[in-house]
Amino acid sequence: MSDRHVDQISGTETTGHEWDGIRELDTPMPRWWLWTFYATIAWALVYVVLYPAIPLVSSATKGLLGYSSRGEVAAELKSVETSRAGLLEKLRTLPLSEIRSDPEMFAFATAGGKSAYSINCVQCHGSGASGSKGYPNLNDDDWLWGGDLEAIHTTIRHGIRFDADEDTRLSEMPAFGRDEILEKKQISDVTEYVLSLSKLEHDASAVANGAAVFSENCASCHGDTGQGLQEFGGPALNDAIWLFGGSREIILETITNSRKGVMPAWGHRLDPVTIKQLTLFVHSLGGGK
Ligand code: HEC
Ligand code: HEC
Repeated sequence: MSDRHVDQISGTETTGHEWDGIRELDTPMPRWWLWTFYATIAWALVYVVLYPAIPLVSSATKGLLGYSSRGEVAAELKSVETSRAGLLEKLRTLPLSEIRSDPEMFAFATAGGKSAYSINCVQCHGSGASGSKGYPNLNDDDWLWGGDLEAIHTTIRHGIRFDADEDTRLSEMPAFGRDEILEKKQISDVTEYVLSLSKLEHDASAVANGAAVFSENCASCHGDTGQGLQEFGGPALNDAIWLFGGSREIILETITNSRKGVMPAWGHRLDPVTIKQLTLFVHSLGGGK
């Protein structure tokens, strides 16, 4: 270090390197920089001790804290699961009306019901639940079997005219023509009367006779004024909402041969919680009572 000497102008020592009389100053590192540098080294050492850091063949050193990002994900999943299990347990035990009036439970239930609907129900009731010929619209407040929570729950659990379930909803409209219960004339008169109930174009001269046939043969299931009777699943005939169709031909066909709409029972296939979720979902579609 014999070549080192102090530069006159800056007062700084030189490194001893010299090129054509030009010497390199040996300016010391600023204090703040050095301390920051030492601090990062210290921090790295602490980190290596506490956290997984040094790669090994198939894993890495574990670190004293035992932390891992995978473990963190697992713990988060677990906590989501326990909170869900709590909600599912509440769904299992609480009555439908209480779930309906608790906004958090209701949102949880209908979300589950919606996904169960899209798996099990769309093929018949449609993806928007608006139904099609023979398959009722579930969005409106026109109910065949009742639109309160209990009625919907029973329908979904036991189905409609589903022979394999002994508590299924029964009642079948007789085939008035095929089984020769009524004569052709009576059938065509009562068809005109049914058309008149929904204020559709009809033959007014047949209505009086049709009304008599109706009160004798039809009112027991469809109501005195055709308002429908939910105990018997008899659709309202005075609201211009049709399950099978409101043209003269279709009504005549219904009365002649009857219909046998079958809705499967889900109590055997889906667990009780899912059925409750479906009930609340259907109830929420707009027509729930
Ligand atoms: C195989 C076809 C089919 C499937 C699948 C089906 N349904 Fe139905 N559903 C029907 C038919 C047909 C009726 C009407 C029966 C009748 O004429 O009374 C009906 C009626 C209903 C009713 C009664 C409506 C009222 O006005 O009272 C509800 C509620 C209902 N279904 C809900 C569901 C739900 C929820 C699912 C899915 C879990 C489902 N359905 C799956 C065919 C089906
Ligand atoms: C035992 C009860 C019962 C009797 C009696 C009965 N019906 Fe029905 N009717 C029903 C049921 C249940 C349905 C729905 C059928 C289905 O969903 O498969 C229905 C459906 C209908 C429909 C179709 C409605 C629509 O929205 O498409 C018409 C129309 C109808 N009935 C007219 C009559 C007339 C007219 C008579 C008398 C001559 C009569 N019904 C007697 C139970 C009855």
